[in-house]
Amino acid sequence: MPTGRENRWLPGSAVRHPGAVNPSTSPPTPYRSVTLSTDDAERMMTLEHLVWFEVAPGVSALEGIDTFDFARGGALEVSPLGQIGTVAQQAAPLVGMYGAYDMALTVPGPIGAVATIAMNGLTWVGVHPDHRRRGILRSMMTEHLHGIHDRGDAAIASLWAAEVGIYGRYGYGTAALEVMLTLSSGTELQAPAHIAEAAKAITTHMAPAHTGAASAAIQQVHAAAAQRSVGSITRPESIASVWFRDTPKRGGEKEPRQVVFAVRDGEPVGYAVIRRTSVWDDHNNPEGEMSVGEMAAVDPTALHALVSRLLSFDLISKVKMYSRSTDDPLLWWAGGPRTTRTSITDGLWVRLVDVPKALTQRGYAAACDVVIGATDETCPWNTGRWHLEVGDDGVGHCQATRAAADLELDVAALGSAYLGGRSIASLAQAGFAVEHTAGAVGRLSRAMRADIEPLGTFGF
Ligand SMILES: CC(C)(COP(=O)(O)OP(=O)(O)OC[C@H]1O[C@@H](n2cnc3c(N)ncnc32)[C@H](O)[C@@H]1OP(=O)(O)O)[C@@H](O)C(=O)NCCC(=O)NCCS
Repeated sequence: MPTGRENRWLPGSAVRHPGAVNPSTSPPTPYRSVTLSTDDAERMMTLEHLVWFEVAPGVSALEGIDTFDFARGGALEVSPLGQIGTVAQQAAPLVGMYGAYDMALTVPGPIGAVATIAMNGLTWVGVHPDHRRRGILRSMMTEHLHGIHDRGDAAIASLWAAEVGIYGRYGYGTAALEVMLTLSSGTELQAPAHIAEAAKAITTHMAPAHTGAASAAIQQVHAAAAQRSVGSITRPESIASVWFRDTPKRGGEKEPRQVVFAVRDGEPVGYAVIRRTSVWDDHNNPEGEMSVGEMAAVDPTALHALVSRLLSFDLISKVKMYSRSTDDPLLWWAGGPRTTRTSITDGLWVRLVDVPKALTQRGYAAACDVVIGATDETCPWNTGRWHLEVGDDGVGHCQATRAAADLELDVAALGSAYLGGRSIASLAQAGFAVEHTAGAVGRLSRAMRADIEPLGTFGF
């Protein structure tokens, strides 16, 4: 949290903020860091099952870890404990594990444009239930964030949180909201005529989602659509082919995943990965449900054609869509929050790993010249004063300065505002930024704001 104007610390200089001590990356006693490989599949899945208590029958350990990136993930182990009631073990059990992906994130570009930058996405975070609250997560988070910084391959990190109380302390802020829409089947989308007319030139068809052919077409649209919307995450090619692999547990009572493609001039321009659940009411009327796990379209016309098709399936009474936004055309074509029974939760959490680089990489909506005083407990190289200069062209440059801070905030507040969906002004109103120079909050706030709310494309 901001600590007040009297803290005149400097990044990378002899004058340091008193709290800027590099946190230890060593694991707490008696745990050891371990570099994982596919040889660890069994103990990785044992830990996964203990953490999430979800078991997919018939899925091998190797299949279970098929999206794990061994170059980015990490784990901690402990010597076999030989406890009462447990079978003697040879192998050291894993007590904590995290995974991470090299991804891309679409962020605000200069003056209403968009830019795509490297982002490291954290996932697979779990600690053995017998070893919780002993600092294992803290040690893994420190290793993860310091690793990104040391490699220098991404200036920002992100995640989807299982619980809201966990990640703020590590400098992550909620940057995009997860908006869920539930539409009644048969809803007529009230789009302007030019969109509805153009959508008629688009055809739709279904295909099983797990095949190589489907994955390739999904990835093509996924990457193209991500270039257009702030908040979109691009999945790496390395995991695209297995992302929609189906398992019995994931299916449950629902059908295996299907994908509905929208095609224009022979090219895929949209897709929706769906599952239908068969439901019948007490009077034998069909009340089936469709869940749309992931959907993307390269433009509003393709979105209109795709969703019109989803709303016209027989035996379905409601269609649930995830990861939309409050500015989603669908929300308004379908009549607004009341008709779409909108529910909102936190979506993507963003964390600036390298403050000056991250603030230079994104673009701005207006010129601005401010000195930001930042605090960062987990990544102390960010703690300091940063001069952000943005020209009339919306291109910014950020570097260390000795000048006094115009405003101060924690790195988590910068993460919250990074995608332009949450304003610095509203964060200041809630006490997450403190203004020292009159007007500084407003200037930075207007420069960082995006025209359209970030879209949460998919959870990972
Ligand atoms: C969440 C989880 C990873 C925490 O691991 P842990 O090793 O017990 O965490 P640590 O001991 O390192 O605690 C780190 C800090 O986080 C806090 N914390 C841990 N779990 C928390 C939770 N569920 N909610 C809020 N705070 C939590 C601790 O109190 C501690 O705070 P402090 O540093 O201010 O003292 C672990 O409880 C777990 O595996 N939970 C189930 C799976 C899950 O939710 N994973 C997260 C996926 S996004």
